[in-house]
Amino acid sequence: MREPPLVSRARELEHELGFTHSSTPEVGQLLHLLAAQRGRARVGELGTGCGVGAAWIVSALPPAVPFVTVELDETLAGASAGLFEADENVRVLHGDWHELMPPEAPFDLLFYDGGGKQRADQDGEEVVDLLAPGATIVMNDLTPGRSGHDVVRQFWLNHPEITALELLTTPETSVILGTRNG
Ligand SMILES: C[S@@+](CC[C@H](N)C(=O)[O-])C[C@H]1O[C@@H](n2cnc3c(N)ncnc32)[C@H](O)[C@@H]1O
Repeated sequence: MREPPLVSRARELEHELGFTHSSTPEVGQLLHLLAAQRGRARVGELGTGCGVGAAWIVSALPPAVPFVTVELDETLAGASAGLFEADENVRVLHGDWHELMPPEAPFDLLFYDGGGKQRADQDGEEVVDLLAPGATIVMNDLTPGRSGHDVVRQFWLNHPEITALELLTTPETSVILGTRNG
């Protein structure tokens, strides 16, 4: 899949700001594919960073579909807002998703990429509540084959309202892809 121009601009921003936690191209491509699916009506992201994942999503969404992303860091939120300023359907919120995203929900596609991902036992239910029935959720940054007790997998792969699986994005990285049961 070719990198969309908006993603290239987000990558330039990432280099300018020295940000090193952006989504990989493999995750970006998965997000792009999901955003391109028929019926997307409201899409969100927790943790904007420099807007790389957001750019993959926005590049695939039909123009009128609202997209909301939230970032705790003021500099990153401001820079990412600049990246999307020409698109009236994109909003970059500055603050904590726990506070700012519930009033924006429900989403039918949500990229969960910041703020408590590793604390699924504490934050997981709040994230589930952001999802519409039938919604898709993507969580990245998992390490395949990790041994020992794993709160993230325990929560998301066993939740009674979620059907989820773990997918390899590279041999060393994986995502959890889930849907909220209707
Ligand atoms: C992995 S980076 C995001 C990368 C981005 N989603 C992408 O696809 O390139 C995680 C981001 O989440 C932000 N973050 C952490 N806690 C947060 C919170 N409670 N609310 C909003 N953003 C948060 C961090 O400041 C950081 O920029």
